[in-house]
Amino acid sequence: MLGTTITGDHIVLRPLNKTDIENRVRWFNDPNVRKTLIISERFELDKTIRWFEKIQHDDSRVEFAIETTEKIPVGVIGLAGIDSTRRTAEIYLVIGQKEFWGKGVMLEAECLLIEWAFNSLGLEKIWAQARPENIASLITMKKIGFQVEGTLRSEKVVDGKRTDVLRLGLLKNEFKNTAGR
Ligand SMILES: CC(C)(COP(=O)(O)OP(=O)(O)OC[C@H]1O[C@@H](n2cnc3c(N)ncnc32)[C@H](O)[C@@H]1OP(=O)(O)O)[C@@H](O)C(=O)NCCC(=O)NCCS
Repeated sequence: MLGTTITGDHIVLRPLNKTDIENRVRWFNDPNVRKTLIISERFELDKTIRWFEKIQHDDSRVEFAIETTEKIPVGVIGLAGIDSTRRTAEIYLVIGQKEFWGKGVMLEAECLLIEWAFNSLGLEKIWAQARPENIASLITMKKIGFQVEGTLRSEKVVDGKRTDVLRLGLLKNEFKNTAGR
């Protein structure tokens, strides 16, 4: 699905385009980023370009580039598994430019996307997955209103090691749009 441009106070979410793919591959392969992600495969440029072309026509997925208001791309955020019958989707994000960590980018990006997902896409529940050691992510999601719904024990293999995965959920009426406040 093609997204739209969503403008916040400090960042802008804009539909991902082909020129973002190189950054996306670099960010997802960065060892510092991977430390808290739940992925085991390495990202490759040609495969990611093919993936990007496919998702343009896939109503179950949408991804945005996160840019500063000065148009510096700092990461990506998206929805996967958009289910228009159950009105649910999984949210994910990566801030690839580490100099932008600790500045509230995650909080603002998630608030902008969730607001759009509930009000424009008509979703009623957003869910997320996080590793238990991903403190920044868990703290931020809690501020937004997410609740931990369970621990999937030894659920995934990341870089050869099994890891627990926390499953978090946010219902529409629980959403606290705390960005910029
Ligand atoms: C996780 C990630 C999205 C966080 O984004 P961010 O904008 O840098 O978030 P922040 O650094 O502002 O941290 C959010 C909050 O957690 C707090 N925090 C961060 N690390 C912490 C720690 N080790 N202990 C306690 N609090 C911590 C911050 O102080 C901040 O709270 P505050 O705004 O009240 O000060 C970013 O680091 C990232 O992209 N990491 C790699 C990919 C990833 O893990 N994606 C998420 C998968 S679920």
